[in-house]
Amino acid sequence: MEYTEEKAWGYAKEKNHLGFMIQRDLPGLLAKYVKPGARTLDYGCGAGSMIPLLKRAGLNVEGMDISANMLCVALHDHKNTAFTRINSAAIPRPDASYDLVMLSYVLVEIASLSEMKAVIREVKRVLKPDGVVVVTVSSERKFHGNWLMVNNNFPENRTLTSGCRVKCSVADSEVVFEDFFWTDEDYRLVFSQSGLSVLGFHQPLGKPEDGMPWKDELHSPLFSIYVLGR
Ligand SMILES: C[S@@+](CC[C@H](N)C(=O)[O-])C[C@H]1O[C@@H](n2cnc3c(N)ncnc32)[C@H](O)[C@@H]1O
Repeated sequence: MEYTEEKAWGYAKEKNHLGFMIQRDLPGLLAKYVKPGARTLDYGCGAGSMIPLLKRAGLNVEGMDISANMLCVALHDHKNTAFTRINSAAIPRPDASYDLVMLSYVLVEIASLSEMKAVIREVKRVLKPDGVVVVTVSSERKFHGNWLMVNNNFPENRTLTSGCRVKCSVADSEVVFEDFFWTDEDYRLVFSQSGLSVLGFHQPLGKPEDGMPWKDELHSPLFSIYVLGR
């Protein structure tokens, strides 16, 4: 997706866009796989909305992204964090630099499986031998359910095939996300062909104790989280 200046600021304002459930479950998942102080790359950091969560987990985090407009917002909102502008699949760091690489809602913006593979191979290059990669993406169900958090009523979502364009917006927000649709099978193929194994897989669900008037979130996942390692 092309992030104009206006879109980048709109994206940053939409604090809840990645969902209550990711914010709820990700800290516990990270604690299982990485130690405080872990050297962390937030790849495709965008406006930096994952930075506070990663810092609260005690991680030593820096961000990289291809979008100058998104990085501009990140620099404004997260003054004590280092951000670097990069080209796709080119991380300007030596091999084995990071304990953790986070890709939060990045792969949904990649238009082909070959580009996705190039990104994941580069991520693997900069990962320490015992490091992990955490990937969050949309679930396959997101574009057809009746959700509290997401409006998916767009003609683009009627027929879903791998690599097709999909759209959604956060309920009650004007920010529309234009992504590519990839299946669980597509992602797993890319990971294995890039030399990484799936160590963990989690699809958060809404829980009655969340105190939210969940709809399909109670029984169907909006998001998928993959934990990858060698
Ligand atoms: C939906 S935003 C997510 C931003 C952030 N990770 C978050 O969770 O809020 C996707 C980000 O990925 C970046 N991006 C897309 N393709 C990329 C690539 N090939 N390499 C690096 N960043 C990429 C975009 O510029 C955008 O900032």
